[in-house]
Amino acid sequence: MNDRPNPGSFYSQAEMTGIGSYVPEKRLTNDDLSQIVDTNDEWIVRRTGIRERRIAGPREFSSHLAIEAVRDLLERYPTDSTDIDAVIGATTTPDFLFPSVASRVQQAFGIRRALAFDLNAACAGFVSAMQAANGLILSGAYRKIVVVGTETLSKITNYADRSTCILFGDGAGAVLLERAEKGAMLGSYAVTDGKGGSYVMAGGLASELDGQPAEEGGKIGQNGREVYKWAVSTIPDGMKNMLEKANLSIADLDWFVPHSANLRMIEAICERLGFPFERSLHSVGPYGNTSAASIPLALDLAVKEGKLKKGERIALYGFGSGLAQAGLVLDWTLE
Ligand SMILES: CC(C)(COP(=O)(O)OP(=O)(O)OC[C@H]1O[C@@H](n2cnc3c(N)ncnc32)[C@H](O)[C@@H]1OP(=O)(O)O)[C@@H](O)C(=O)NCCC(=O)NCCS
Repeated sequence: MNDRPNPGSFYSQAEMTGIGSYVPEKRLTNDDLSQIVDTNDEWIVRRTGIRERRIAGPREFSSHLAIEAVRDLLERYPTDSTDIDAVIGATTTPDFLFPSVASRVQQAFGIRRALAFDLNAACAGFVSAMQAANGLILSGAYRKIVVVGTETLSKITNYADRSTCILFGDGAGAVLLERAEKGAMLGSYAVTDGKGGSYVMAGGLASELDGQPAEEGGKIGQNGREVYKWAVSTIPDGMKNMLEKANLSIADLDWFVPHSANLRMIEAICERLGFPFERSLHSVGPYGNTSAASIPLALDLAVKEGKLKKGERIALYGFGSGLAQAGLVLDWTLE
């Protein structure tokens, strides 16, 4: 334990005022994958809960998905986009190392006077970006921030490796956070364990990490069993720490939105937390693991299904490569 002030006194002057999402048209089903590698629908559904994923076109990249997600947000929650003063892109698959995806979003909507940057915390990226946005708003310097999680993981997936190609898909989800007198964020948590960095890695300039060779062509390589064990054994404690710091208990939560990596993993985490699995929200069935996009996609699916009600209390919890995890508990402020 450390002696920082109890984040039960967590500060927030931010609330969510809009959400939007976008997934590419093309579907890749389990049956389609069974034509490419030695696998089958029954195995994939039983071990992961994934039924299909969306795949970006050859000329469609993370910035295009991000722009469509923000367009959807602005259509459904009309606001003056010209006074957005920051855009944060959470992505591990930017079109380019630079310029950022965030700057493409800025350009697409003519947001003139804005801070724009990308943040990479892999599957913890969206929640890390929400935490950063809350801090920027709290600083007083920013009032209206778009956070967009966007991924085109299909472009770095090895479709000859059956243990990874069944997992990943493409998509984007965006939220608008605005300054509010009484912030709706109640607490946060983050912990990173770089020791496990080589368990799931992709891309980059180096050819090895801690003695583990990177996959050729920058494709995703992972030790699925180790990632699974790490997630199931550490996320429940992370959640408990976050809630304790916010003076909340698991019974105070209406919904739990973990990173959509694998449904079996989510079931195991819920069981260890003593939280009803039926109250978890995910996007893993229709979209697979979409890294930084999975949490906003899960939220927006729930919005469209009419599940989320204003005033409900929700815990978001991202986790993945790093190994990084980041959580945020908030009150739902959308009608
Ligand atoms: C990848 C994952 C689905 C594999 O499931 P698992 O139950 O751990 O399976 P294992 O790796 O133990 O493999 C069991 C067997 O299934 C086989 N297998 C692996 N992928 C398969 C597939 N797509 N179809 C059929 N069989 C497959 C393996 O070859 C192995 O066979 P063997 O026993 O003959 O060697 C699972 O480990 C996982 O989801 N891990 C987390 C990964 C993750 O979330 N990564 C992103 C981080 S956010």
